[in-house]
Amino acid sequence: MESNILPQNILLEGIKIDLKSVKPGAIYSHNVYDEFGSRIVAADSPLTERIIQSCRERGLRYLYYSKSFEAGANPAGLDLGRNAVSDRTQARARETSRAILEEIAERLQLGQEIDISRAKIIRSRELIEGIIDEVAHNDDAVLITLKELRNYDEYTFVHSANVAVIASTLAVRLGYSRDRIIEIGVGGLLHDIGKAIVGYQIVNKPTELTAEEIKSLMEHPHYGYKIAENNRNITRFQKQAILFHHERPDGMGYPFGFDAEGFIEKVPRDVRLISLCDAFSALTTERAYKPAYTQKRALRIMQNGVHAAFKKHSQFIYDDFRDFIKGIGFMINMGDYIFETEEMVRLNTGEIARILELRKNNSLNPIVRLLTDKKLQPQKREIIIDLENDFSVYVANILDKTSVDTHMLSLRTQAYPTPP
Ligand SMILES: [Fe+2]
Ligand SMILES: [Fe+2]
Repeated sequence: MESNILPQNILLEGIKIDLKSVKPGAIYSHNVYDEFGSRIVAADSPLTERIIQSCRERGLRYLYYSKSFEAGANPAGLDLGRNAVSDRTQARARETSRAILEEIAERLQLGQEIDISRAKIIRSRELIEGIIDEVAHNDDAVLITLKELRNYDEYTFVHSANVAVIASTLAVRLGYSRDRIIEIGVGGLLHDIGKAIVGYQIVNKPTELTAEEIKSLMEHPHYGYKIAENNRNITRFQKQAILFHHERPDGMGYPFGFDAEGFIEKVPRDVRLISLCDAFSALTTERAYKPAYTQKRALRIMQNGVHAAFKKHSQFIYDDFRDFIKGIGFMINMGDYIFETEEMVRLNTGEIARILELRKNNSLNPIVRLLTDKKLQPQKREIIIDLENDFSVYVANILDKTSVDTHMLSLRTQAYPTPP
């Protein structure tokens, strides 16, 4: 039986089986695991129709078997060292980003009209094409972008390159068309071009900014838009990404500070995705005034921004955040979770709950026990809810007091907590 489903991909130690090719009744001579190291079926036992169906429902695409796998190990860990985007492409992204920002700064210095040459936009598109091809061939690899800078002056172009890589990877994994992925990726690369006008003495200033400097930094979306406005090689969507990437549904964003309605009406969904990539990159990159948070910590901070505790509006929209996590898949592929078991969380419905069991494919929907009701009165009965059964209920906040105001990440207006 095994012969007709021989897997195509032989990894270093384990064998990867495409779930689509598994026939009911297949028997393996070794234990079969999912990509997180949970045993699906024991050696010499058949993979029944029901088991295969439940794997599909969990969103699994591959199973693994190997003599050397121990229960609890992470077979997908074979891929842990593999980055979805190669070092060479990441370096190319940084070079492209540097070239664009330097061109702007140079023209500004020479008193010339500020613009981005067509050649640089073409180069940017080619860069994203390269990323698409790599991501498509590395669909279960983790995404690691540069978090450490050689010097703080590198920040804007490294950050822009990271946002381009993260946004295009996300768009590939969300199944977008090639043209759309290129549009979004180049949008990510260009989103902060206005910072070249603000000047790097302010952008990279290691100490507290003055009120005037903050004001000038908050103008970078406007400055960027001015540069792009009449450039026919930059699309309308990319101009929106430049202008709106710091707007937030809670009305606290800038430069316009749209209210919730204005935000939904004016900021397209894919600009919102670029904003998530932007916040994620900013959180995970070191600055003179803040540490580089781990990916897990960054996602926890962003999660707490989705439903800022007891506030009416949030910094991010839940559906966008869920797609962001699923599309990027960092934690899933690393065999880690956003939450911890036993920790206390607040559900979007208002109850406080304790996490009993974590979910690998639906990180925001663990199994929880309710501690209080919606009015925060203690629950007298034991109520356990599997949040995977109803996606309208999900974890809204982690009650660990780790909140960072993600609006102001580039503005240095708050003391940043150090990572634990
Ligand atoms: Fe920005
Ligand atoms: Fe940014």
